[in-house]
Amino acid sequence: MVSSVKGTFDLFYPDIKKYLLMEECARKIFSLYGFSEIRTPILEHTELFSRSVGDETDIVKKEMYTFLDKKGRSLTLRPENTAPVIRAIIEHKLYESPRHSRLYYIGPQFRYERPQKGRYRQFHQIGIEIINDPFPLIDFEGILIAKELLNSLGILEVEVKINSVGCKKCRQNFISILKDYLNKFKGDLCSDCNERIERNTLRVLDCKVASCQKVIENSPVIIDYICDECKEHFSKVTQFLNDFEIPFKITPRLVRGLDYYTKTVFEMTSFKLGSQDAIVGGGRYDGLISSLGGPDIPSFGWALGMERLSLLMEDSPLNDNLLYLAWMGEECLKFAMECASYLRSKGVEVVLEGSLRSLKNSLKRAERFQANYSLIIGEDEVKSELLTLKNMRNGEQIALKLNEIPNFILNGE
Ligand code: HAM
Repeated sequence: MVSSVKGTFDLFYPDIKKYLLMEECARKIFSLYGFSEIRTPILEHTELFSRSVGDETDIVKKEMYTFLDKKGRSLTLRPENTAPVIRAIIEHKLYESPRHSRLYYIGPQFRYERPQKGRYRQFHQIGIEIINDPFPLIDFEGILIAKELLNSLGILEVEVKINSVGCKKCRQNFISILKDYLNKFKGDLCSDCNERIERNTLRVLDCKVASCQKVIENSPVIIDYICDECKEHFSKVTQFLNDFEIPFKITPRLVRGLDYYTKTVFEMTSFKLGSQDAIVGGGRYDGLISSLGGPDIPSFGWALGMERLSLLMEDSPLNDNLLYLAWMGEECLKFAMECASYLRSKGVEVVLEGSLRSLKNSLKRAERFQANYSLIIGEDEVKSELLTLKNMRNGEQIALKLNEIPNFILNGE
């Protein structure tokens, strides 16, 4: 037997139902905010990610699935979707069209990480990107949309952590201050962090190693060093959050694992998830489009991990209404087929048994299909047109006319 690749998984019933529900809710909410979907290829030129996510990030340095194609070109399975969306926007000059300034995506991403609960090598994200909008209202709305999506799926206990990482100019100043501080504690920092001091200073703040944590606890924080414009932006975003009563926690050492962020960064976490607790991550990235060869256009976005969300949805009820329909003789088959067709046309999910089976056997099959209802059609039913619908969950039976069944199943009436 050939097994699946480590860190990947197959998705099927019942978990797939949760994914479909997430997608349905996301599409509904996004369209209410004027978003349209974008689907970009899973394969991109490696350079796209090194130039955007950043050469010194863990994602680019250690986690990408990169290979040479038959012509020797370096290609990468996308580890995230912001860079591909921005590539598409530049390539098709979509930044000139306000209609394309609000985009969402749903799809797989690939990172060669050590698999554990909530962390996989192929995982799935739902995300949005809001292009060409510099205003704090956009950061707020972006966060609001993520919150609404989680709420609509019954996930209420999330913490919104927010910070500002400043703009290109003020961040540089902070980085040199942080470097000076960290250099004093080189001996206490892990070997990774020692390397990061020079190459990716801000990421030290994200290290989970205990000895590093002690150093980080007393480090200077970026929010004290950002410029007036960045301060003003951040204060407006937090003001909107306060005005609309969205609880949040300013987390001064929150930095993200991707280099392109400017000003607002945020994460939504759940204590129920253990160490991989971030469900949503994102922020503003005002310099990304120009750094990839497009015009100087500010943007904001986030992505949500569907696997982490599905872990939180573990106990949500499955909205399943499958009806198993069997027929008790060749002479009943045509009527059974007509019934199946009618019920489906009214929105009932129906599995029509393919072969002739005994009553006992049919009921067993209904159970194995995990059907909510069974409908067994024999000669009597064909004649009387009164059908016995059995609720497979509680065993109750009720005699109904065919046209009464959809309402009974779908609305309980
Ligand atoms: P990210 O923080 O790298 O951001 O990923 C966003 C979310 O994807 C995480 O919060 C987590 O829920 C999920 N995730 C990440 N890695 C894994 C993994 N190995 N297994 C399972 N889930 C995972 C980005 O990807 C940015 N592109 C977000 C963004 C959009 N920023 C601006 N626009």
